[in-house]
Amino acid sequence: MDISEDLLNTLRKAGHVVVFTGAGVSAESGIPTFRDALTGLWEHFDAKELATPDAFSRNPALVWGWYEWRRMKVLRAQPNSAHLAIAMLETLVPRLTLVTQNVDDLHERAGSRDVLHLHGSINRPFCFVCRLPAIYPAGIPVEPDGGRRLEPPRCKCGGRIRPGVVWFGEPLPDNEWSAANDAANQCDVFLCIGTSSLVQPAARLPTVAMQRGAITVQVNPNPTSLDDRVTINLPGPAGQVLPRLVETVWGGAKSQEGATSAPGAASSPSP
Ligand code: APR
Repeated sequence: MDISEDLLNTLRKAGHVVVFTGAGVSAESGIPTFRDALTGLWEHFDAKELATPDAFSRNPALVWGWYEWRRMKVLRAQPNSAHLAIAMLETLVPRLTLVTQNVDDLHERAGSRDVLHLHGSINRPFCFVCRLPAIYPAGIPVEPDGGRRLEPPRCKCGGRIRPGVVWFGEPLPDNEWSAANDAANQCDVFLCIGTSSLVQPAARLPTVAMQRGAITVQVNPNPTSLDDRVTINLPGPAGQVLPRLVETVWGGAKSQEGATSAPGAASSPSP
């Protein structure tokens, strides 16, 4: 791993590390990112066209069907070695704040605690009209590979139930957003893992950390606008690069081998 001895020492001394993750951290668990082309019923759509309140108003069955298919993928997926390395890192540094744009619960299932979900959770549906929380039936939905249109269930107020995620054009949850900003403003090291850094306002966080003078590290197999701005750019898939980084910097290697037994890791039941 090509990091100078000086930087390694500075990283090792970090009191507060922020880990900021995007869809790329779950890609190796088999969950498509938002940049992957859609297939089946949704092949003529862009994810950005489906993930909006307008799309749900216009075509609730198309959008609900897409999210049920995504929920099936999430419930069938298992945390990968990047999720596990992040959970391990939490045990190796004085303070770690994990901020994710992902709506899956793979960080929690890998053993991470107090995850700040900026874009909500696919497991917490609520009413589109009165916002009353709803509960999914137990078990994993069985959806055809090519997807299907599916009429969303109704709330007792008569409104349609919608997925518990933050759609394009909607505000981020206040508490999570403010805690994420505070952490980016206070941290010594900011790791940016598997995000295109395109979707605002979340994409501002790396800049907040840079302005504060934190060391910034990016892990992504593809180029992003942060490539030339971060202190350390580590191209490659998170599942390979992140365990190596944690091992090299914080000495989590041995523990990493046993990381599948991290609290809540792969053996936990799917929610
Ligand atoms: N390891 C690390 N990064 C990866 C991997 C991998 N194995 N595979 C893909 N990536 C990278 C891609 O190169 C891309 O830069 O993950 C990034 C995924 O980008 P997006 O799909 O835009 O995901 P994200 O940055 O999380 O998007 C933010 O946008 O659509 C909304 O709400 C949605 O939370 C999402 C938000």
